[in-house]
Parts: sequence; C-alpha cells; structure tokens
Amino acid sequence: MITLTDIVKRFGEATILNGISLSFPEGSVTALVGPSGGGKSTLLRSINLLEQPTSGAVQIGADRVDFVPGRKVSFAEIQSIRGQTGMVFQNFQLFPHRTAIENVMEGLITVQKWSREKARARAVELLEKVGMGHKTDAWPAELSGGQQQRVAIARALAPSPRVLLCDEPTSALDPELAGEVVDVLGKLAAEGTTMVMATHDLRLASKIANQVVFLEAGQVVETGTADAIFGNPQRERTKRFVSSISAAQTL
Ligand SMILES: Nc1ncnc2c1ncn2[C@@H]1O[C@H](COP(=O)(O)OP(=O)(O)O)[C@@H](O)[C@H]1O
Ligand SMILES: [Mg+2]
Repeated sequence: MITLTDIVKRFGEATILNGISLSFPEGSVTALVGPSGGGKSTLLRSINLLEQPTSGAVQIGADRVDFVPGRKVSFAEIQSIRGQTGMVFQNFQLFPHRTAIENVMEGLITVQKWSREKARARAVELLEKVGMGHKTDAWPAELSGGQQQRVAIARALAPSPRVLLCDEPTSALDPELAGEVVDVLGKLAAEGTTMVMATHDLRLASKIANQVVFLEAGQVVETGTADAIFGNPQRERTKRFVSSISAAQTL
C-alpha cells in the first residue's frame, strides 16, 4: 500500500498541491486526470520525492517520510522511498548513447551493483516482456517512439519497484504507437503491477485503471472507478473536463 497524507507543495508563493490524501493499494492502477497545470506531474514527482513536499507524508509499505517545514529530510529517508519506485516519462528519456539492453542494465549495474551477467539476464527477460526481445542491441534513435517507451518501461521495472509511476506515457505517441504502450501497461496491470499514471489518454485510463482521480488546481475534485468518472461524473467540473477530452478522443 502507498499512502499520501495531506501533501502540500509550494513553489515560492504558489501552492501547487493543496492537501492531497490518497492511497494506492498493492496491485491497483490509478489514473490521475485533469487540466494541464493541475499538479499531476508534481504529484507523481512527490511520490518518488524528485520533489520534496512542503508538508505531508509519503508512505510506501513500512517506509514513511514526514515532511515538516524546517526539518531537513536525509538522503537515506529519500532513498527509502525513491528506491521503491520506477518512473516512465512522456519523452522516454533513454540514454541516447546506450543500446536498448544497456539502458535497462545501467541502473542494475551502477545503483544495484549487480554483475553484468546477472543484469543482462534480467534485462533480456524484461525486454521480452515488453515485446522488445528482438531489439536488444538497437540504439534509441533506431527505434520508434512506441518501442523507445517500451524500453523505458523495461528500464523502470528493472530493480523490481513496488510502484511504477508514469507521466503521460502515451502523450508523445501517434495513436497506433500509443496502442502498443497501452497493451504493455495493460499486461503489467494484469500481472499485478501497482501503477500511478498521469494521462489524458482515455483509452489508457478506461482500459486499465481501477481508480481515477480528477485533480484540478492542486486538489482532488473527484475520485472513482473509470466507469464512474468517465461515464457518470458527479461534480460539474469533472463533467466539463470529461466531455472536453471525450470530444477530442474516440474510445
Ligand atoms: N519547479 C517548479 N517551480 C515553479 N512552479 C512549478 C514547478 N513545477 C511545476 N510548477 C507549476 O506547478 C503547476 C502544476 O504543474 P504540473 O504538476 O506540471 O501540472 P500537470 O502535470 O497537471 O500539467 C503549474 O502551474 C506549474 O507551472
Ligand atoms: Mg504534467
């Protein structure tokens, strides 16, 4: 279980997250949706502590870090949380001068201190899982966007994180290539991977999310199942948002 308690994030005078409490049960998939600038990326970055909340608490399993203004959080505390997360970005962010398999092996060797042989075996297994077993030695520039994103997913999963965080994983892709990535994420969800993703992709959210959180101006407006949020939203603001994205995408 992952729990966020009353997360507040301020940048200077601006309050970007304004008291967010959410839990993500083991094996669940949560989609964060909402207008641009609403705080989705900042919330994801607060889960892995790439951003440190101004106040609130982040708990993953038995590890909990409390943020209190004025108290400096140690690197060991940050690492206790961050080490349990993997992150996938909109623009893949593969290392351009490493092949697909080297991208997946890199963190296992440098951070986890695995031997090359062990890291290679794990990387092959993961690249096969995401349907990239035939491209292990390709350079990122030789791969389509969908293929690069699948390698990035394999890389994020390499150290067996407890939660996979995805920030708009299909937003940079044409519909067909986005479909490949939706299929891979769907397969991971079916295997019980815990995921939290920010997405505008209705196909992705409605196909694999158990929980949809509508976030606006740093606050949770409404939470429900994908059917409830997309099919029968309760709040006026959610209704307007859902109809605007539904008009732009066909399910
Ligand atoms: N490092 C930062 N410094 C100042 N403001 C930031 C920073 N990162 C994000 N913001 C602001 O926080 C708000 C929420 O951004 P973001 O989390 O990226 O939203 P979303 O992902 O929902 O589009 C935006 O107004 C953005 O300008
Ligand atoms: Mg964002």
